[in-house]
Amino acid sequence: MTRGLFITFEGGEASGKSVQAQALIAWLRARDRTALLVHEPGSTPLGERVRDIVLHAKDVPLTPQAQALLFSTARAQLVHDVIAPALAAGTAVVADRFYHSTLVYQGYVQDADPRGLRAITDFAVGETRPDRTFVLDVPVATALERRAHETGRPWDRFEAGKVDFHEKVREGYLALAREDPGHLIVVNGDRDQLAIEADIRRSMEELLGVPSRP
Ligand code: TMP
Repeated sequence: MTRGLFITFEGGEASGKSVQAQALIAWLRARDRTALLVHEPGSTPLGERVRDIVLHAKDVPLTPQAQALLFSTARAQLVHDVIAPALAAGTAVVADRFYHSTLVYQGYVQDADPRGLRAITDFAVGETRPDRTFVLDVPVATALERRAHETGRPWDRFEAGKVDFHEKVREGYLALAREDPGHLIVVNGDRDQLAIEADIRRSMEELLGVPSRP
């Protein structure tokens, strides 16, 4: 059995990664591949509890180190229970956020030691690494404007950060992509949804060894 492909989506708030992750799932299924979508933090009972604490319990103080450990705890369970078995069964897995979020939000933005973060990530995920990561890049003003139009959903611990916080998130992702351009692909997310989808499909066709359609 060939291992399934593992693709992750990353980016700041309202960067459009969730929409693109869903579009990729539809594209993979249309190509007769079994494909599974997961979302971090979440997608397991532990992940949902961690989500409540880290994002919504704003009365619970959390250092960046404590945040990283909580996200990594949930990630270890998600890898063990869901991602690794699916990949082993040949299913493609698409994750809306994975460990690059920790490297950026807790490391680059909040100064948690990057070596420590890499060590806990190794411990949590082992060999389960994405084959490709799409970083949706959107100017902060555009992203915050989009987010402001989403009604009925309260701002979480990170979304409520100031503009500087979001600027650093964006910078952090671009810095990670410069370090590892073979795995992290920056996609301009400040465009029409179909244009973004087209770029991602081209990159996927290249990864799958399928000739691009003209
Ligand atoms: P989202 O569901 O809108 O993507 O929100 C998840 C939030 O959690 C987002 O603000 C980023 C943050 N986060 C981290 O800070 N570190 C992590 O490791 C993960 C997975 C998410």
